[in-house]
Amino acid sequence: METPSIMATTIPPRTDAQDDEALMLAAVRELVAKRVAPRAAEIDERAEFPMDLKNLFAENDLLGIPIPSEYGGLGGTFLTYVKVVEEIAKACASSSLIVAVQELGMLPILIGGSEAQKRQYLPKLASGEWICAYALTEASSGSDAAGSMRTRAEHRGDSYVLNGTKIWITHGSIADVVCVFAVTDPSKGPNGISAFIVEKDFAGFHVGNKERKMGIRGSPTVELNFNGCIVPASNLLGAEGEGFKIAMKVLDKSRPGIAAQALGIAAGALDYAANYAKERVAFGKPIGQHQGVGFLLADMKTEVEAARLLLYEAARKCDEGAPDVTLWAAMAKLKCGDVAMAVTTDAVQVLGGFGYSAEYPVERMMRDAKITQIYEGTQQIQRLVISRAIVGKGKPPTPA
Ligand code: CAA
Repeated sequence: METPSIMATTIPPRTDAQDDEALMLAAVRELVAKRVAPRAAEIDERAEFPMDLKNLFAENDLLGIPIPSEYGGLGGTFLTYVKVVEEIAKACASSSLIVAVQELGMLPILIGGSEAQKRQYLPKLASGEWICAYALTEASSGSDAAGSMRTRAEHRGDSYVLNGTKIWITHGSIADVVCVFAVTDPSKGPNGISAFIVEKDFAGFHVGNKERKMGIRGSPTVELNFNGCIVPASNLLGAEGEGFKIAMKVLDKSRPGIAAQALGIAAGALDYAANYAKERVAFGKPIGQHQGVGFLLADMKTEVEAARLLLYEAARKCDEGAPDVTLWAAMAKLKCGDVAMAVTTDAVQVLGGFGYSAEYPVERMMRDAKITQIYEGTQQIQRLVISRAIVGKGKPPTPA
């Protein structure tokens, strides 16, 4: 009897979508090698937003990958989107944020917007004609995003008037449009927060101080001031009081983007360290052949691949609209952020003194990795989200 072919029975045929994704990733790898990697050190050094790369990504349809085609996006999957962010981040973390933050800024409109709002804003954002940002964080409300929010929005006639200050707003200084979260009813806690689409030309919108940062220096992070900022009531996203839930649903889809950035940084650092370890000779052989370095690289590789599997599963959950997407997004962000920090630190170690020098890219990668453990929810917040998914939030104790 003929032995059945294992290959024929276990490997499903490739789908058109997989072929499209492979073609896109091959094109992105080429763009990254030719246009992004050569600029990465300079972008970091000059701390300047690379507008040329934003235009390059826009020309190559990378800014609206999972946005449906009827709104000008590519109609691709979240899985493809995270793989693209990862590829760019292997060479330049700042540049990967151009893709990731455009997604973050668009998601409130995609998730909470009316048909008219989607048609008005998404095509300009997906094409890259406009840049967008997401403004949730305030000086007193980082992790406790709902409980300590101070920015107020008052309904007056056919407008809302916004007063307050947002901080740490990625791309806030270059954004044409910002999705802003503000309190409309302070008596209702998280259910008294609403979301607004604010254009940079609306009266009372001002860009404040720019942060000087350890890493992702080519990605401007600023304060935004709303001084009696007049926003048409038609720019309210969803209904009054739905803003916090919109903000959280956005993070469920955007945290995998930051996880992808973290994974890319780790993979780029591993690649550089591995090549170095093959070439650098000490005690008569390449340092990778010494067990101390070889085992370090083995652990780095294993962690990167484990993080990748978790991230891709989280992205699939986003595509499926799975009910446990909050959990998976948090786990992906937690794992990939921690792997990025550990792997880049070890990559510096593999290069020794050269790793500590700005002449080599791994010190930049290590500085860039740190933010992935902080923004879009600190690692402690991810653990909170994960533990609540396991054991629930619980109720505050009732006074005796
Ligand atoms: N989807 C839908 N609804 C959600 C939700 C989700 N993922 N998470 C919470 N909600 C709902 C809850 O069900 C609850 O609704 P009800 O009142 O109807 O029951 C409501 O929202 C309030 O939720 P919680 O009680 O869980 O709220 P909480 O105050 O305990 O805080 C938190 C929850 C998870 C800690 C949240 O505040 C959080 O994620 N904090 C971190 C904020 C963060 O990530 N900031 C990043 C800023 S963006 C950034 O960094 C971007 C950048 O620069 C690139």
